Amino acid sequence: MKHVLVIPGDGIGPEVILPSVDIIRTIASDIDFEFVEAGKKAFEKNGEAISEEIMNKAAKADAIFFGATTSVRDKTYKSPILELRYGLDLYANVRPAKALLPGMKTIDMVIVRENTEGMYSAVEEQDLDGVTTFRRVTKKGCERIVKFAFAWCKQHSRKKLACVHKSNVLRSSDGLFLDIFNSEAAKNKKVRSYEMLVDSTAMRMAMMPEEIDAIVTLNLYGDILSDLAAGLVGGLGFVPSANIGQKRALFEPAHGSAPDIAGKGIANPFAALLSGAMMLEYLGMNKEAGILSVATEKTITEGKELIDAQGRCNTKAAINYLRKSLDDKQVPNKKS
Ligand code: NAI
Ligand code: MG
Repeated sequence: MKHVLVIPGDGIGPEVILPSVDIIRTIASDIDFEFVEAGKKAFEKNGEAISEEIMNKAAKADAIFFGATTSVRDKTYKSPILELRYGLDLYANVRPAKALLPGMKTIDMVIVRENTEGMYSAVEEQDLDGVTTFRRVTKKGCERIVKFAFAWCKQHSRKKLACVHKSNVLRSSDGLFLDIFNSEAAKNKKVRSYEMLVDSTAMRMAMMPEEIDAIVTLNLYGDILSDLAAGLVGGLGFVPSANIGQKRALFEPAHGSAPDIAGKGIANPFAALLSGAMMLEYLGMNKEAGILSVATEKTITEGKELIDAQGRCNTKAAINYLRKSLDDKQVPNKKS
């Protein structure tokens, strides 16, 4: 039996995570789910967005399934997702973006983003003239993310891996990342490797997204490029993500708590469902992961009338469609 800690969070977090858990329960029976509260609501109630008790539970769980939380502009507020990424050292953020809506260009890319250092140190020093932010890039950080990216490509049949950086300006830090990428590339000749500057990558992604297979990049570039990738495939509601460390992993849709649509029943649950499929794969339940991702992709491609131009949908109708598709005999190996 695997133990999964569920943190639904705020806004649309619970609206997409809770039905996803129900769906996962119908596919995989060997998981025991524990639900805990973190985020804005928890902060307002207890003065902390994520408690030490939850951090300890997260450190023991086989996986964490996370919705999204709403940030609070208060100096004492600590973002639960950042606490979990740093606290559990979840150094690899994997964000696959695949175009599934009919009529789109063929897009099927994955962005592997360094998740624990770079611009996200949140160490800022103020002086009379302004603020200095510390951006740290380490050998260890570069080595492990680059190794992870090559291994991911091999395991998931990705043929090309681009190192995305800005070493023409940030010569030492991004230069270190690029050097480490090049030396790892020499040991992984089965994956074609190349490099691109982050700004021109943005342009190439917008104009020729079908050329991109896999990207490995530093924290801030990965954050921005993966939202761009989401925009190319219909919106944040289609992009799942995994935050993976040496021993622990957390799975979450790439989107936030979307306060603008919370409570309206129109949050797209596909990113959460696909994150659930990534979690099943991580837990070694490959057959169940396949069933969930096939059924979710089928709902997106065939149930297009469920989805509007902004990538929103009636959450309940989408979940019901998916349930029917799971009952459909065409979905192979469904457990009864
Ligand atoms: P957001 O991802 O919540 O929303 C951006 C836009 O995409 C909004 O127009 C929203 O309606 C739409 N959208 C997002 N997910 C959707 C879905 N599943 N279906 C349909 N439409 C969807 O980002 P935003 O607005 O920048 O942030 C809102 C709050 O979420 C903030 O407090 C932010 O700090 C937090 N946030 C939390 C994250 C996390 O917990 N991992 C990640 C990103 C943001
Ligand atoms: Mg982001």
